[in-house]
Amino acid sequence: MRVLGIETSCDETGVAVYDTDAGLLAHRLHSQVDLHARYGGVVPELASRDHIRRLVPLIEEVAAEAGTRLADLDGIAYTQGPGLAGALLVGASVANALGLALGKPVVGIHHLEGHLLSPLLAEPRPDFPFVALLVSGGHTQLYEVAGVGRYTLIGDTLDDAAGEAFDKTAKLLGLGFPGGPAIERAAAQGNPKRHRFPRPLVDADGFDFSFSGLKTAVRRTVETAGELTPNAVADLAASFQAAAIDVLVSRTTKAMEHVAREAPEPHRLVVAGGVAANKSLSISLATAAKHSGFEMFIPAPSLCTDNAAMIAWAGLEHFAMGARDGLDAAPRARWPLDASRRNVAGAKS
Ligand code: KG4
Ligand code: ZN
Repeated sequence: MRVLGIETSCDETGVAVYDTDAGLLAHRLHSQVDLHARYGGVVPELASRDHIRRLVPLIEEVAAEAGTRLADLDGIAYTQGPGLAGALLVGASVANALGLALGKPVVGIHHLEGHLLSPLLAEPRPDFPFVALLVSGGHTQLYEVAGVGRYTLIGDTLDDAAGEAFDKTAKLLGLGFPGGPAIERAAAQGNPKRHRFPRPLVDADGFDFSFSGLKTAVRRTVETAGELTPNAVADLAASFQAAAIDVLVSRTTKAMEHVAREAPEPHRLVVAGGVAANKSLSISLATAAKHSGFEMFIPAPSLCTDNAAMIAWAGLEHFAMGARDGLDAAPRARWPLDASRRNVAGAKS
């Protein structure tokens, strides 16, 4: 089966072709970073307009690179939500128009499901079940994943998402947008012990996260720090990153310990989403996973951040299970994964 994947949930236009036998035939991304950089964040209206300009030419390029005619596709998968309403609408309209014109089935995919399944795109592939830490610009969540379409949310952020905390801190430090990679670069030159920032909730019951106290502590320090020299910025970035990583690792370790007590071996941890591209985070998580007796799976950085390969893959899985959407499926800007119609597990809390 050969599936076209389309991703337009935020500020990246992504297109991919995945083939059951031949694997990932082509995937490309057009980033809108330059378009939004001067505003310090994504401007939804500009994002939608750029998706309109880019998507159809990108589909033609990716199909050519994959050596496939659109008529040879077996199905089209697109990101149905969550995300920016206007941006999602572009992907949904093009996917449904193609499906109608070509007479091919179309399926709307939950963006977070794409991230959760993205480690399955590369070898070695994790078997189910696994614990998943999903860390993106909009989400910081822990799931128990029993199989495709079987996601149980066990932990969530009470305020900011991890990526959002990186982005806001980078803005505060004048490091630009997107903040995650900028913080990581600056942190590499800094002293992570220079400031002892709070690690919210690390000792609390449950598996939830919180980042707003950390963000506020960085802001207060910046306000009283005087001149932000490159060294001062590097120390602040390194100290922030160390605290954020401690929060993520300690809560994930708690979830691993919980699963290790309840479920038989082998135990697996999957880490996905844009923040998973952070090298220091993956090193710390790898150490924690090893210590807890878990095998860790983390996609290559280009598959951690938004991409259409993960959407094509998730589409393939759902087509294989018989999913087909009507052409009237509406984009879902807000859409909890455990409430998604394709999730059969449901949330514990
Ligand atoms: O998954 P993603 O590409 O888009 C969403 O679905 O949100 O995640 C984007 C987030 C942004 O907040 C970005 O700053 C963060 O991932 N990010 C990173 C790194 N690369 C991207 N955060 C920390 N370190 C990185 N290297
Ligand atoms: Zn994403």
